[in-house]
Amino acid sequence: MQFPAEPFRIKVVETLRPTTREERVKWLEAAGYNLFKVPAESIYIDLLTDSGTSAMSDKQWAALMVGDESYAGSRSFYRFESVIRDLFGYKHVIPTHQGRMAENLLFGAVVTPGDVVPNNIHFDTTRANAEQAGAKAVDLVVPEGLDPQHRGLFKGNMDVGRLDRVLDENQGRVPIVMLTITNNSGGGQPVSMANARATAEVCRRHGVPLFFDACRFAENSWFIQQREEGQANKSVKQIAQEMFALGDGCTMSAKKDGLVNIGGFVAMNDGALAERITHRLILVEGFSTYGGLAGRDLEAIAQGLTEVLDEHYLRFRIGQVRQICEALTDAGVPIIQPPGGHAVYLDAKAIAPHIPPAAFPGQAIAITLYRDYGIRGVEIGSLMFGSEDPVTGAPIAPPLELVRLAIPRRVYTEAQLAYVARSVIEVHRNAGRLKGLRITHGAPFLRHFTASLEELPAGVPAVPVGR
Ligand code: F0G
Repeated sequence: MQFPAEPFRIKVVETLRPTTREERVKWLEAAGYNLFKVPAESIYIDLLTDSGTSAMSDKQWAALMVGDESYAGSRSFYRFESVIRDLFGYKHVIPTHQGRMAENLLFGAVVTPGDVVPNNIHFDTTRANAEQAGAKAVDLVVPEGLDPQHRGLFKGNMDVGRLDRVLDENQGRVPIVMLTITNNSGGGQPVSMANARATAEVCRRHGVPLFFDACRFAENSWFIQQREEGQANKSVKQIAQEMFALGDGCTMSAKKDGLVNIGGFVAMNDGALAERITHRLILVEGFSTYGGLAGRDLEAIAQGLTEVLDEHYLRFRIGQVRQICEALTDAGVPIIQPPGGHAVYLDAKAIAPHIPPAAFPGQAIAITLYRDYGIRGVEIGSLMFGSEDPVTGAPIAPPLELVRLAIPRRVYTEAQLAYVARSVIEVHRNAGRLKGLRITHGAPFLRHFTASLEELPAGVPAVPVGR
């Protein structure tokens, strides 16, 4: 039997409070048109992120009760370790409170200033942690990975030829190669098994270890099973095991495919590296058998990593994202194609061509979705990644202006996501009414979290960022 819709039923309900447009107008003004600063309670459908927003299962909630809170040698750690060793295959498993701490510890242990760290595309915390350790983070995704309309099946793939060249040109200066599955910053697009194998082969030839950024490994494995030749008869678990066997270790934010609200780990085969990381872990996170987490969190992750491999769940999960993308595509709304694993990415430049990047077309759409429909997404464009020319102060726009609607796992029903699709279609239909914005108060870095903005009256030309 294939389930026609949700492969679960609802046991615990979280009531949502209705809010009016007038209320949301006030919250928006108080928040300086920054959706990171509106109260979450004012939102009907929150698609800000798929990270830490999953609904846990009855078995995960039950697992919390059997968590062993011993400071050292917790039984829950051994369960966590054995589930991860079985699935990921790496000898040393080091718990952390979330993914970015795994990155911080790993790069802190392997990078020397002046090094280069390649990735298909670094997620922003991965980039920031590599750079903070003194490395230059380089993105080497295949060219179609940067083309929103290209219908490639594995647009997250590493450009293996360029990787080979980067390794040739920087001999002795590349301590590690990362491969992000799925490629979040490129639209949640998967990496094929063949590409992971080719990447691993290049790394081996250059004697450089390969680490996976494994946040969404189950979704990536599902795409491989569904799309890649010769993979259809393997289970998602076998595919994941086969892929991880190609590498030397991984970082993981369990807040995604761990199906939990907090947690992560870094795992590897290299015992000496594990020892260096563990010394640092004890200084900044906690003892090696809990690493910044409670014993109950370790139990919930161990259980979540088992459930995420359920193929009925994955079919539903990836299907949910695909359904909303199909509804939008049928209505002519420009989005990144093909649908990725965890989110819909609206192409804001195409939806609101009358708003220049300097007036934040993505933010204009995100604001309207919140104010008129109670839906929260996140701008990934000039507000998040734009910068200024240091000499002229002129705004420099990133290549894409996007709005990401990330779908939390097991949280919203098909009916709720159909409402999202209808709302986006309406915003697109009335896109001529969208107004640009200007920053009234900025922050020197990661400004999208804290900046305040105001709407520009219709027809007013964009004011350079921050002026
Ligand atoms: N790597 C990738 C590919 C991610 O998407 C994230 C987080 C991290 C690492 C960091 O993990 O949040 O547990 O520290 N992505 C979230 C998002 C925040 O909304 O895409 P973390």
